[in-house]
Amino acid sequence: MKEKISPISPSLLLAIVILIGTTAWGEEVSKSSIGERFHSSTSLTWSGVLEDLLRAKPKLPPLYKNYPGAKKISLPKPDYRGMVLEEAIEKRRSVREYSSRPLELSQVSQILFAAQGLTGGLHGKPVRAAPSAGALYPVEVYVIVNNVDGLQKGIYHYSVLEHALELIKPGDFRSAIISAGLKQEMLGDSGVTFVLSAIFDRIRHKYGERGFRYVYMECGHVSQNISLQAVSLGLGSVSVGAFLDHKINELIGVDGKREAVIYLHSVGRI
Ligand SMILES: Cc1cc2nc3c(=O)[nH]c(=O)nc-3n(C[C@H](O)[C@H](O)[C@H](O)COP(=O)(O)O)c2cc1C
Repeated sequence: MKEKISPISPSLLLAIVILIGTTAWGEEVSKSSIGERFHSSTSLTWSGVLEDLLRAKPKLPPLYKNYPGAKKISLPKPDYRGMVLEEAIEKRRSVREYSSRPLELSQVSQILFAAQGLTGGLHGKPVRAAPSAGALYPVEVYVIVNNVDGLQKGIYHYSVLEHALELIKPGDFRSAIISAGLKQEMLGDSGVTFVLSAIFDRIRHKYGERGFRYVYMECGHVSQNISLQAVSLGLGSVSVGAFLDHKINELIGVDGKREAVIYLHSVGRI
């Protein structure tokens, strides 16, 4: 008996066309997505490495930023010894609700040291608490102070060399940071928000465009150190990636091009 071949129904045909169309369109979109282009353009290949050797690189900016003339606040020696690492890792959780009790300056000092403090020397150069590609340290740390005992509210820059804070802008920036942070209230409720920025040319000087990737990786290292140090101090913290870049850059006073804010990290009492 001859086998009966059933014809494809028009609706099935339509579904197939839509499916093929969607897949092709989807591929097209993902091929042209900025994220994919960023990833592929900064991927290492041998030919790319050679090309990069010949490409002109930006001059190396100073590895330490400072604000001459700013009021300087020396920080207490960061000599706290807390819980063992394994316990801090187990206990770490994002905390978004804080008590209104102020942080102590010694706690801020300890966290800044964990973030970017000088911890030794390598080939005659100072090295810091978080790793950095080529020891070029593109990350700068600012502190928006909301509630710290004995420290006036305002925006400060962490001077790595001096282990001190430099006051950039005095004032209450709680509503500004909440608004820049897409209305995330914990940014204003916390004792402080650490703002991690990057001076791109420090790392582009050696690694070219791939250096951009390293900047994001390095901010992750710094933020993780802040998290674990906060846990060990009995404090709560949360890392924050959702914010309006131009607003935070403006708040900190950076141009968003040569130096841009990458990541925020709020810390407060639980
Ligand atoms: C890159 C990154 C960005 C994040 N951004 C935010 C944020 O904008 N707001 C927020 O409340 N939490 C943010 N988080 C925290 C995550 O929501 C949190 O880590 C996740 O829910 C897991 O919970 P846990 O940290 O308690 O383990 C971010 C975490 C990372 C790693």
